[in-house]
Amino acid sequence: MTATLELPSYKEQSPEVAERFRHLKEREVTLSARGLGKTFSSAQGPVKALSDVNFDVYRRELMCVIGASGCGKSTLIRILAGLEPLTEGEVLIDGKPVAGPGPDRGMVFQSYTLFPWLTVKKNVMFGLKMTGSSEMTAESEAMQWIELVGLSGFEDSYPHQLSGGMKQRVAIARALANRPRILLMDEPFGALDAQTRAQMQSYLLQIWRNVDVTILFITHDLDEAVHLSDRILVLDRNPGRVNEIIEVPVGQPRTTRQFLQPEFLATKGRVSELIHPPRETSDEHLPIFKMTRVGDEVV
Ligand SMILES: Nc1ncnc2c1ncn2[C@@H]1O[C@H](COP(=O)(O)OP(=O)(O)O)[C@@H](O)[C@H]1O
Ligand SMILES: [Mg+2]
Repeated sequence: MTATLELPSYKEQSPEVAERFRHLKEREVTLSARGLGKTFSSAQGPVKALSDVNFDVYRRELMCVIGASGCGKSTLIRILAGLEPLTEGEVLIDGKPVAGPGPDRGMVFQSYTLFPWLTVKKNVMFGLKMTGSSEMTAESEAMQWIELVGLSGFEDSYPHQLSGGMKQRVAIARALANRPRILLMDEPFGALDAQTRAQMQSYLLQIWRNVDVTILFITHDLDEAVHLSDRILVLDRNPGRVNEIIEVPVGQPRTTRQFLQPEFLATKGRVSELIHPPRETSDEHLPIFKMTRVGDEVV
């Protein structure tokens, strides 16, 4: 016998959640994509990676972008960061079109990108010194950010002496030290084990609550997207375009206890339906022949 769980629609919002979204949308728009498109030219001909992508991210919002592998998530975030030129449309920050990278955007990648020959402190100071801060100012600011990400005591360590989670906390401190308006994160916890990843999600939520920053966070993990987001932008693939923007009906502040709440599960179900259409999730059978002895079956 199988029991099915009756879930509410992910569109049903409690009065508190509805109120929160009303407030969110009254804030100014920090980041927008307008008709954004990207076609790569390759030896096999043009590859359309993104088509007519439109969305707004409000100030201090945390928005996750989710989509199947290859749907254009990294391309999108690299365009927003100004690391990749777009071929159609525009990116606006505070309503003004931008082209190229700028100190208003900080970036954290999945791979570890700290300078291995610099200590934690020097890594965090790097951008500050590039933008003209004195050694003393850069050092005292770096120490504050290192404390904020919970790494006081490790300022003189080198990256190879740190765990993966700690390295990513330094990367977050390094990005935030330049006081960006927007933090762009491309699957930053993707290489971490499940436990460290959960801990990093909790750190990120704490940091976000305490710093005036808008976050666009890329993931392909359903739980991560629902747990972190105010809203989730679901990207389709071939070419990458916005399928739906979901207002997550889970209350704030977020805790891991919410993972089993009906609203959480309903949202996760909806995102899963969008990124894994039913034909792809049918339990296909592998062409396996029997390799157990007769009478040795476990089922
Ligand atoms: N430099 C490039 N040249 C040609 N095609 C590219 C390039 N970068 C990405 N693509 C293509 O664009 C699509 C989206 O890639 P990507 O943004 O890396 O997806 P995701 O991050 O969602 O896995 C893929 O089909 C990929 O092959
Ligand atoms: Mg990617």
